Amino acid sequence: MKLKVGIIGVGGIAKTHVPGWQASPDTEIVAASDIVEDTVKKFAADNKIPKYSTKAEDIINDPDIDIIDVCTPNNYHAPLSIAALNAGKNVICEKPLAATPKEIFEMIAARDKSKKMLMTAQHFRFRGNSKAMKREIETGALGDIYHARSWMIRRAAVPTRPGFVMKKHSSGGPCIDIGVHILDLTLWLMGNPKPVSVSGTAKAKLAHTPGAFSVWGGAAIPKEFDVEDYATAFVRFDTGATLMLEVSWMMHHPTEGEDMQMWLYGTKGGCHWPKCEIYQTNYETKQLYDRSLKYTKDALEPHAQECVEFAEAIVSGKPSPVPAEQSLAVMSILDGVYRSAVSNAEVRLD
Ligand SMILES: NC(=O)c1ccc[n+]([C@@H]2O[C@H](COP(=O)([O-])OP(=O)(O)OC[C@H]3O[C@@H](n4cnc5c(N)ncnc54)[C@H](O)[C@@H]3O)[C@@H](O)[C@H]2O)c1
Repeated sequence: MKLKVGIIGVGGIAKTHVPGWQASPDTEIVAASDIVEDTVKKFAADNKIPKYSTKAEDIINDPDIDIIDVCTPNNYHAPLSIAALNAGKNVICEKPLAATPKEIFEMIAARDKSKKMLMTAQHFRFRGNSKAMKREIETGALGDIYHARSWMIRRAAVPTRPGFVMKKHSSGGPCIDIGVHILDLTLWLMGNPKPVSVSGTAKAKLAHTPGAFSVWGGAAIPKEFDVEDYATAFVRFDTGATLMLEVSWMMHHPTEGEDMQMWLYGTKGGCHWPKCEIYQTNYETKQLYDRSLKYTKDALEPHAQECVEFAEAIVSGKPSPVPAEQSLAVMSILDGVYRSAVSNAEVRLD
């Protein structure tokens, strides 16, 4: 029998999950919820979903449902996921798993009590180039990874919806919105070392400039914009490794769309993502080697693939493909960036 899925918050990103639930041999979508009635009505009709409601609790408490897929703005992730876990559902939740580390602790407690699965929808992990890089790093190709440089920088590409630009819905700007993507990927490829301190900054330097706009639809930056438009950080890990992070929705940086890159440096080699290249040096022959990793073309788009792998993990009793503990480390760094920005000093992440 198929696992029955209910999706909460059916705006932009929920649409990218639908093909995953449809492609999975283990799932079918049976319900949807959104606070905006027209939105959920249309989503249900477009995707032939039999039940819909403007009240999340209707689908959270529906005994027919096995999986709740949380796709609301950030600040509603924790309360909805906790309610769903308490109701005995498996939960996949969009990134960031929650707006604060404290809420992630509470989600982990609810998960442990319910013995259900909780996964963060960090879709970049499910791309072929990320998986190929992970497999290569696990062979020891980089040796001891002691430094990383990661960035995700956009040029005037701001998601202008309230769920992103108003703190009361999102808890932050690009730091939490896209910083979470590149940081999750970096920590995962580094082998999830424990972060111990952060020195960072987060400011709005361009968003309030008269005429500031987003290339996405040419929309003006809304006057309600009260988050940062860029953030930078220097992170230390318990292994002694370090990381430099830069994120922005709007920098005068020459890029079409976005420039998302990660460089890892180890004692035996370095690598670049998304190029999926490995760089090594033979000190005996004094030769430099560069090579590209080969990987098969992704059958599904990664937002869909993550849903397939979540269902597969439930059915086969495997661990969560993106455990909440790893998202807790990511969020403790991002929370540290905001705290450090306020105190103007390095902060500990104990
Ligand atoms: N993984 C990715 O690549 C990616 C991309 C975009 C967004 N996201 C994440 O997905 C989440 C949603 O982003 P989006 O782009 O879909 O936003 P969106 O604004 O397009 O859609 C959010 C939907 O949630 C609804 N909603 C708001 N509060 C709700 C509540 N309490 N209960 C039920 N529905 C509610 C809104 O009416 C809206 O339809 C965010 O957390 C964001 O960080 C992830």
